[in-house]
Amino acid sequence: VVAYFNGQFVDPDGAWVPLEERGHQFGDGVYEVIRVYSGRPFLMEEHLERLERSLRVIDIPNPHTREEWAQLIAESVRRSGEAEAQVYLQVTRGSAVRGHAFPGGTAPNVSLVVRPAAAPVHPEDAALLALPDERWPNVYVKSINLLPNVIAKETAKRAGAAEAMLVRAGVITEGASSNLWFVIGGRVYTHPANRYILGGITRQFVLQLARESGVEVVEEAVPFSKLGEVQEVFVTSTTQEILPVARVFTDRRIAPALDTLPAEPPETLLPKVE
Ligand code: PDD
Repeated sequence: VVAYFNGQFVDPDGAWVPLEERGHQFGDGVYEVIRVYSGRPFLMEEHLERLERSLRVIDIPNPHTREEWAQLIAESVRRSGEAEAQVYLQVTRGSAVRGHAFPGGTAPNVSLVVRPAAAPVHPEDAALLALPDERWPNVYVKSINLLPNVIAKETAKRAGAAEAMLVRAGVITEGASSNLWFVIGGRVYTHPANRYILGGITRQFVLQLARESGVEVVEEAVPFSKLGEVQEVFVTSTTQEILPVARVFTDRRIAPALDTLPAEPPETLLPKVE
């Protein structure tokens, strides 16, 4: 495992960030996960482009040029000695005395961790649990604020599913950490890359592959009520790659609320506020 913080390679277990740090206290930052195959970062330019966009949207200056990022990633991967790895990189607004509004004069904090690639889920195990999408409506920003994603993934895991199938206002958006695809009548559907999903780099790659091989893909959201017409489902992400889904299920306490905009928040792991 290789770890890096603000210009230095550090001991991953000994490393610490300042406690008054915007990512640490507010989740005020963005991240990327890049898969390394045979020592080479896959679709790195696309990830760096998305990083630039995420930073721009929340008004954090990009601390590095593309070339500097590429060099830092290459050096980190080289030091790890791993051929099959994943690179986690994070940029936060910086260190400052706690206060919600942007502090002036801080430099962004950059951290990076390289680990051996996680083993993808075995397709036979891949079930999805339908859950309400409780995230803010700007999830196209790859923000480190992931509490709703964390809760959804844990809820799915406790129900025996590999991933959540998030539903917002009656339509299926994406997974807790992946994009979702549906085969209906010979066409493949996936949610358009608007503010309601994180436009996956793998999603973009699969769209291109599908088009090159003559598969008809429609970038249109699938209503939850149309799930009965779906013939096949698969998941895409940097870490899960392309994962066929064996089963989609829901919970009777959650299902009625998913067809339409729920008047009341359905049950999740979190207790109801009285
Ligand atoms: N997650 N949607 C969400 C909410 C995600 O968190 C991710 C990726 C994706 C797929 O994007 P990509 O194909 O660029 O990996 C879609 C990363 C892997 C993570 O949080 O670990």
